[in-house]
Amino acid sequence: MSYVQECVEIISQHIKNFKPKVGLILGSGLGQFCDNIDTKSSIDFKDLPGFPVAGVGGHAGKLLFGEVEGINVVVMQGRAHYYEHGRADIMATPIQVLSALGCQSLVLTNAAGSTIKEASPGSVMLITDHINMTGVSPLFGADGNERFVNMVDAYNPKLSDAMRSAAKAIDINLHEGVYAWFSGPQFETPAEIRAVKTLGANAVGMSTVPEVILARHQGIPLCALSVITNYAAGMSETDITHEQTIAFASKAADTVEKLLNSYLKSQ
Ligand code: HPA
Repeated sequence: MSYVQECVEIISQHIKNFKPKVGLILGSGLGQFCDNIDTKSSIDFKDLPGFPVAGVGGHAGKLLFGEVEGINVVVMQGRAHYYEHGRADIMATPIQVLSALGCQSLVLTNAAGSTIKEASPGSVMLITDHINMTGVSPLFGADGNERFVNMVDAYNPKLSDAMRSAAKAIDINLHEGVYAWFSGPQFETPAEIRAVKTLGANAVGMSTVPEVILARHQGIPLCALSVITNYAAGMSETDITHEQTIAFASKAADTVEKLLNSYLKSQ
């Protein structure tokens, strides 16, 4: 039996007939959203074969099932990153499991540095497209023609519109832009930031892009949000640290919670 089948069996025993409609992946410091879920069931990643054992501060490592705004959701409270294991496909099993559970769409969130002055720390950006700066893919080694995934409109226009409307409805200023994926775990150099800024990146981070590719491979539509936790390297006098990432993500967590609630209402 594959990891995915094993996970689905374990999860089915926990959640019985509960059917999640939307899957959410919460980035660093954004776990607060879970307090607002009417939780029916929760499973530690360590009890799910193929799920990453979370190691980065700010990530709980739990799969939560529950209801938000009348919508059945499954939430990954925490994720794994390429830099933790050197495996770009570290999120393959979780994404395949979300698909197998019947999720019709995903919302991915992350913490990111901003390359544009307008998007200051504490603000939120809708990701409209990405640039993969790592040169790696979670689909290395995959077979079949499906591996040649079309990445046009990877950030689903309809779901992105729903997120724009959700922000408008509650008067949140939602920035928009292109996210550049760096491997990490080191932060970028100022020269790297100048380079990606020239290439068209508005935010930089160490996650999400492999999940987007994997979700496209599974055929699940998605939208994605970056919580801006800092200005990117070389743009401000403040040192960039992981502690700052967690602190600013937590500060923005209220905004993200309201935005996600407003979005889920429309789903
Ligand atoms: N760079 C990369 N990843 C990040 C940053 C950053 O500036 N901020 C939060 N995650």
